[in-house]
Amino acid sequence: MQPPISTRLKKTSVVSDNFKNCEPDISTYPLLRAFQSVYFHPLSKTPGPKLWAYSRLPFIIGFIRGLIRGIVVQDIQRLHLRYGPMVRIAPDEVTFAQPEAWTDILRADFPKDPRWWAGEPGRESVLAPTFTTHALKGQEPILQQYVNLLIERLRNLANQESAINIAAWCNYTTFDIFGDLGYGEKAACFGSAARFYPLIELVLTKCIPTSLREEYDNHRKLIADKVQRRLNLEQERLPLDTINATFLELTTGGSETTATVLSGTLNYLVNNRDKLSILEQEIRDLEESGLSLSTLQDLPYLNAVLKEGLRLCPPVPWILSRRVPDGGAHVCGTWLPAGIAVSIQAYSMSRNSNYFHDASSFVPKRWLPKVLKVPSSPFSKDRREAVQPFSVGPYSCIGQHLAWAEMRLILAKLGRS
Ligand code: HEM
Repeated sequence: MQPPISTRLKKTSVVSDNFKNCEPDISTYPLLRAFQSVYFHPLSKTPGPKLWAYSRLPFIIGFIRGLIRGIVVQDIQRLHLRYGPMVRIAPDEVTFAQPEAWTDILRADFPKDPRWWAGEPGRESVLAPTFTTHALKGQEPILQQYVNLLIERLRNLANQESAINIAAWCNYTTFDIFGDLGYGEKAACFGSAARFYPLIELVLTKCIPTSLREEYDNHRKLIADKVQRRLNLEQERLPLDTINATFLELTTGGSETTATVLSGTLNYLVNNRDKLSILEQEIRDLEESGLSLSTLQDLPYLNAVLKEGLRLCPPVPWILSRRVPDGGAHVCGTWLPAGIAVSIQAYSMSRNSNYFHDASSFVPKRWLPKVLKVPSSPFSKDRREAVQPFSVGPYSCIGQHLAWAEMRLILAKLGRS
């Protein structure tokens, strides 16, 4: 059970700890402390709303309001549009929407911010072999089987219904694939996987409607049943709670993410029929046997469509904070003291017209190798390195090969049918 948010924020008030040697201890005087935070703080020159620099409370209120309305990412984007690529969103937190932030922040020496990540973070090497490109070759029949099933179900539905909820069907498929690969092969290994329990979960549990909560509880029960079934077959090596919690996180991270990109991309395609036709043509030109993972990997337009989908609909729209390590560090050319929390706004960056020509439009050709080579193309100056949907560095996504394989196969088979 996590301690209340207020306790955790108080315990980790890094700025006051780090500066207590050079400043009078004013922690007992909230007003003085707020005044210091705005005017005599190493971040006092960092752009951002003044009120948010006084206290973390406005950030928390704005965050919860944004979550409830489903516009938290757009709220942060508005802050970046107003204040620029570097914004102070709390007394001790700065957020970045600048391509250099990926490599400046996501380094091994920048630890994950414990306020967002409960428990010891860290990639468990035992997980990695499950998701290599090599392992994926052996798993291809499973992927083909579930994607064929999806197409079959959609065909049947198309004959009966006028509208199909494609987002739900993408979710069923990626959930089934992950379930088969994860629970069928390495359940006990996953038990020791990296766990993260973001603050967002704690906040959400307080404000989600009962119907959604029930849905979540059913999902948990489904996970627990699956794990229990698997454990009945194997010798138990880890506490059941740990395994259940880990699988709950992994099934969301390993299925909803991929389904989100797919549904977002499909939405753009049906609203951009000219681009859909180019994609369909590219797929129809393949032999039936061409719908294999290795062939799809090299299809230029299919891959461009998905990269554009990942740019506009990143399922992880911002990267949760890391901490500036001891001794301080430069981030995007600005020196920051130790303990400051730093995060990256992927969504704001991807849609910024300083980095992308026609930034808010769906233009897959911006990713085509032949377009990149034409210096006169308006897309040749796009900052493509700004799009890192799977993150970079030591904690980047280990499921990215699987995600790419699922996305290519589902889109190609849908385009063919
Ligand atoms: C389009 C699909 C996906 C996207 C965009 C995505 C994105 C990400 C991102 C951005 C992170 C890093 C988060 C951070 O550092 O704050 C991450 C971590 C992770 N992802 Fe994915 N992911 C996707 C699919 C998957 C799949 C299919 C799996 C596994 C089946 C998976 C498993 C993981 C795991 C285990 C981590 C934690 C890695 C660690 O902490 O070492 N993801 N993902």
